[in-house]
Amino acid sequence: MISKDSKIIIVGGGVFGLSTSLWLSRSGYKNVTVYDRCSFDKNYYNPSNGCDGASADINKVFRMAYGEEQEYQELAIKARDIWLSWNQSIEGSSPSDLPAGLSPDDKLLYLCGSYFLAEGSKLREFYGQSLQTMQETAPEYRKMQFVRGNQKDEERLHKISPKWVEKLHIVDGINRGNINGFIDINAGITIADKACVYARFLCEKAGVKFVLGDPQGKIDRLIVEPSGSNKKAKGIKTADGLNHWGDLVIVAAGSWTASVIPEAHRTVEATAGTVMFIDIPRHRQDLWKKFHPDNYPVWSYRRGEGDDYYQGGGFPITKEGRLKFGYRGRKFTNFQDHPTKSGLRISTPRTKYTENPIDTVPMYGLSRMKRVIHEAFPELAEFGFTDSRLCWYTDSIDNHFVVDYVPGYSDSLFICTGGSGHGFKFLPILGQHVKNQLERVPDQFTPLWKWRASVEGKSNNGLSEGEEGPREMNKIPMAEREDFKFEKRPLERL
Ligand SMILES: Cc1cc2nc3c(=O)[nH]c(=O)nc-3n(C[C@H](O)[C@H](O)[C@H](O)COP(=O)(O)OP(=O)(O)OC[C@H]3O[C@@H](n4cnc5c(N)ncnc54)[C@H](O)[C@@H]3O)c2cc1C
Ligand SMILES: *[C@@H]1O[C@H](CO)[C@@H](O)[C@H](O)[C@H]1NC(C)=O
Ligand SMILES: *[C@@H]1O[C@H](CO)[C@@H](O)[C@H](O)[C@H]1NC(C)=O
Repeated sequence: MISKDSKIIIVGGGVFGLSTSLWLSRSGYKNVTVYDRCSFDKNYYNPSNGCDGASADINKVFRMAYGEEQEYQELAIKARDIWLSWNQSIEGSSPSDLPAGLSPDDKLLYLCGSYFLAEGSKLREFYGQSLQTMQETAPEYRKMQFVRGNQKDEERLHKISPKWVEKLHIVDGINRGNINGFIDINAGITIADKACVYARFLCEKAGVKFVLGDPQGKIDRLIVEPSGSNKKAKGIKTADGLNHWGDLVIVAAGSWTASVIPEAHRTVEATAGTVMFIDIPRHRQDLWKKFHPDNYPVWSYRRGEGDDYYQGGGFPITKEGRLKFGYRGRKFTNFQDHPTKSGLRISTPRTKYTENPIDTVPMYGLSRMKRVIHEAFPELAEFGFTDSRLCWYTDSIDNHFVVDYVPGYSDSLFICTGGSGHGFKFLPILGQHVKNQLERVPDQFTPLWKWRASVEGKSNNGLSEGEEGPREMNKIPMAEREDFKFEKRPLERL
């Protein structure tokens, strides 16, 4: 059992590592060190500066609507209060009280509204469930959700501000307006890089140590001794050749987690989301205004099921003039040899900054996104996409997080990952429940987050497709720069 004096090593300084170390140190754990191969003290989690974890990003959706999953809905509501208090503390700080990379006019959360859309006129089932769960369990928050095309709701929204009704109709071009959905005006976006900079600052204030950068912060492998059933994780070996000993190793390495813990390859899988950018020129202030978070919500559009499934969306413009669009209707794998376990092949992230770099995305998602964006915003066609990114998810077999002791290591090795595309919003609160699992204090997440592996014969969220599956990146066409351009007119749907 760990104690407040245990030496705790955390591999990974993304959302899972940051939130865990914050909650541990604030509750009295004195010896917590986070290792990350990225120099977050120099690149400030800004993806343009060479970091490529999922948390190092310009923005992420903050939503509380979670279908029937009341546990996550409640966690998001709790997170929201802390997000707002962080936002307030930053505004109330003098520049010298803030870490490098943050200034008092930075906000971590914009309540620009989170807009959920789907094809057709009938409210998509998931959205109906989200509204109903909110109505039954958090009615105050349900009052801030408004169904598109529902006259009463639109009147209610108009009373709050006509601006919100404009936001409700800003994406009317999608599917020629034959869409359904709702907007949640209590939700919006987090500025992801700034949020991580602030969380890391709070960690340091609480006494967490960070070892950042390659080679000193990069883990080559776990130190496991002796072999066999008595084995324990004794520490880590970093790329500079040094051994670091600890009482407990927590692996929060996001989509690289199975690269560090080979046993986790049937528990989590790295899959790539397709992210595209349009940089709006300065002289187009009309568009800067149109896509400003005051005038434009974050939105997500769903269509179809199964092989035909589309899910993708767009974010308001950043301070630098960048529009971000994502697609996750199909996520892609990249199977490679495992770095330490011979004979094992696992999906491994490949980004602009990995050894074998990549600067494009699969055509599959790109062509589908282009069609929706072109329908919605024909005025963007003249720019085309100006940049791209593969952003790596850590999918679990059921989209619940994975936060538990790894079996077979006598409680010396702990896995803390499985964000499955929805972990960011919980940055301020996640660690509270990670700490519960570490201390074996059961809570509502214990059954959801326990160690588990893919089961033969089940779909396992794609985890059992393996290298032969249809979404393996090495087998599908990748986009050329020419493909980033938009056609003259939106194409008909495939
Ligand atoms: C495309 C995309 C869109 C998303 N959108 C949203 C959203 O809108 N809202 C939301 O709530 N969530 C969203 N998510 C999910 C969210 O981003 C993740 O759940 C969360 O950021 C995962 O954090 P993490 O700490 O597990 O992983 P990461 O952020 O990837 O952190 C892992 C860290 O481990 C480090 N590391 C890896 N290997 C080593 C090693 N060998 N040695 C040292 N360090 C190592 C990496 O450098 C990295 O910093 C999205 C995810 C993706 C991919
Ligand atoms: C952390 O643990 C190490 C190894 O046991 C020890 O040398 C160090 O003094 C400890 N640091 C603190 C702050 O307790
Ligand atoms: C953030 O806090 C400041 C100061 O209280 C406030 O003016 C601003 O509206 C807040 N932002 C959000 C999104 O609530």
